[in-house]
Amino acid sequence: MTGKDEYYNRAKQEGYRSRAAYKLKQLNEDAGLMSRGDTVVDLGAAPGGWLQVATELVSEEGTVVGIDLQSIKPIDGVETVRGDMTEEETRERVIDSVREVERETSGSGSGAERPASGEADVVISDMAPNMTGEYSLDHARSVYLARMAFETSLELLAPGGDFVAKVFEGQDTNDLRADIDEEFEYVRTIHPKASRDSSSELYMVAKGRLTGPVREGDTLEVDIEDVGSEGDGIAKVDGYTLFVAGTEAGDTVEVRVTDVKPRYGFAERLA
Ligand SMILES: C[S@@+](CC[C@H](N)C(=O)[O-])C[C@H]1O[C@@H](n2cnc3c(N)ncnc32)[C@H](O)[C@@H]1O
Repeated sequence: MTGKDEYYNRAKQEGYRSRAAYKLKQLNEDAGLMSRGDTVVDLGAAPGGWLQVATELVSEEGTVVGIDLQSIKPIDGVETVRGDMTEEETRERVIDSVREVERETSGSGSGAERPASGEADVVISDMAPNMTGEYSLDHARSVYLARMAFETSLELLAPGGDFVAKVFEGQDTNDLRADIDEEFEYVRTIHPKASRDSSSELYMVAKGRLTGPVREGDTLEVDIEDVGSEGDGIAKVDGYTLFVAGTEAGDTVEVRVTDVKPRYGFAERLA
């Protein structure tokens, strides 16, 4: 039996709308993406296999929003938006819709300004272009869609949130990966078993959205305000915490950032 038959038949038997459902299950098992109560945004979601898997994983305590060019048959507990993710207007609608759903479920007041970072825990994109059969063109279009998803994820994700995007492997994959890597703690590429063996698709899986004002390698001058329980000096950069070993409260030091986490980072003192 070929891979195609196995996952196709399983999807039919288990009531999933697409064999793609198993790719998301495998990505989730591999990378630990979704848990109970999470807010998940699925870009390129029709016919809805990923939406079904996401709703199972986040349970009724979570929130799932799906977007596609095509209409998506209703799924209990899923909000859908029909539109083209390459259009600014759709991206705005998606951001507003996630914010609206979040406001309803968290019961917070209405009318607040859109915050600098979003509220979503995970943004997933399985968007794929219509295939022309000309590989370099199909590759370029898939990278473009993945970039649209990436840019939208930067607005949607809360600090520490995760991002997944499908891309057809090719010459621009490494540049895309490097750009994603700048904005997350780390990024991996995964080829799920449920992808057809012949498929050149892979998934960029980025963990830990970084929203702090510094990046690895930055050098800057900081004031040490306090000393943490491990004995490292603590500096604040626009409210973001940097730990600097070998410093004391009251020091003003030149540092290089060595490691950046979503909510704090580490820096070394320069001579
Ligand atoms: C492989 S299918 C997604 C399958 C889905 N993950 C599932 O499990 O059912 C790719 C989807 O991307 C959508 N898509 C492609 N380009 C898009 C765009 N510019 N904006 C929104 N959706 C797009 C297509 O309409 C198609 O439904």
